[in-house]
Amino acid sequence: MRIIVENDYHSMSKKAALMVASQITLKPDSNLGLATGGTPLAMYDKLIEMFREDEVDFNEVKSFNLDEYCGLEADHPNSYHYYMYDNFFKEINIKKENIHIPNGKADDFDRECRDYEETIKKAGGIDLQILGIGSNGHIGFNEPAESLNVATEVVNLTEETIKANSRYFESKDNVPKKAISMGMATILKADRIILLARGKNKAEAIKKTVNGKISTQEPASLLQTHPQVTIIIDQEAASLINKKDLSADCHFEICK
Ligand code: GLP
Repeated sequence: MRIIVENDYHSMSKKAALMVASQITLKPDSNLGLATGGTPLAMYDKLIEMFREDEVDFNEVKSFNLDEYCGLEADHPNSYHYYMYDNFFKEINIKKENIHIPNGKADDFDRECRDYEETIKKAGGIDLQILGIGSNGHIGFNEPAESLNVATEVVNLTEETIKANSRYFESKDNVPKKAISMGMATILKADRIILLARGKNKAEAIKKTVNGKISTQEPASLLQTHPQVTIIIDQEAASLINKKDLSADCHFEICK
C-alpha cells in the first residue's frame, strides 16, 4: 500500500488525474472503475481539462461505476447516472456504449446485479478502480457489517450514510434506503486501486484503513490485502495516521 499525503485537495486531485491519464496512455482501451461523491469532483475536472488539452483520450475507455441508488431514474439529479454525465461524461469523448452504471430502476435487481458482474468480467476486469470512502469506512456502498458482499448486490444503507449523503438531497427523507453496489471482491479484483479522501471527517476511517488490521466493520481495511493500492489524501484526512501502526508493507510519502 502506498500512502501519499498531499498539501491540499487541489494537489491530491491533480495527482489522481495524472495517474488516471497515465493508465489510459499505457492502455488506451482501459477499463476504469469510477466513483461518485464530492471527493473525486476535482479529479474529474482536471481530467476534463487534460482532455481539452489533448493530453488524454477516452475514445476507447470503458467505465464501470461502483454503485447507484435504488429507485432513482437515470435523469434524477441525485442519481449517480446524472452525477457522472453532468460532472464528467458530457465533457469528454467516452462512447455512450462504453459507459456502465448499475440501473437503479431495474425490474429485476438480482438479474441486474448478476448482469453487471458479467459485463465487467466479459470486458476483462477493471484495470484501475477509483474509490472514495465513507466516514464509516464504506467503499462503494459496502457498509460496515459482520459480513460483506462478494459480488455486486443490493445493499441497505446505514443511518450514518443516509445522514452523510443527505447533504446532496432536499432532505434526509429523500435519500434512498437501498443501493446497488459492486461487492468487495468486484473491487479487489481490479488490477490497481486509487482511494481518495479529504478532510477531518475522513481521518478516523483512513486511520482504520491503513493500521495493519482488517475488519469487515471497516470495509476499506480490506484494501490492505491488495498488492496495488495507492491512497491519496490531504493532510487533514491523514492527521490521525500513526506511522508506527501502519501495515508492514506500507510506503508513506508526504508531498511538499
Ligand atoms: C457515497 C458513495 C461512495 C463515496 C462516498 C463518499 O456513499 N457511494 O462511493 O466514496 O459517498 O462521498 P464524499 O466524497 O462525498 O464524502
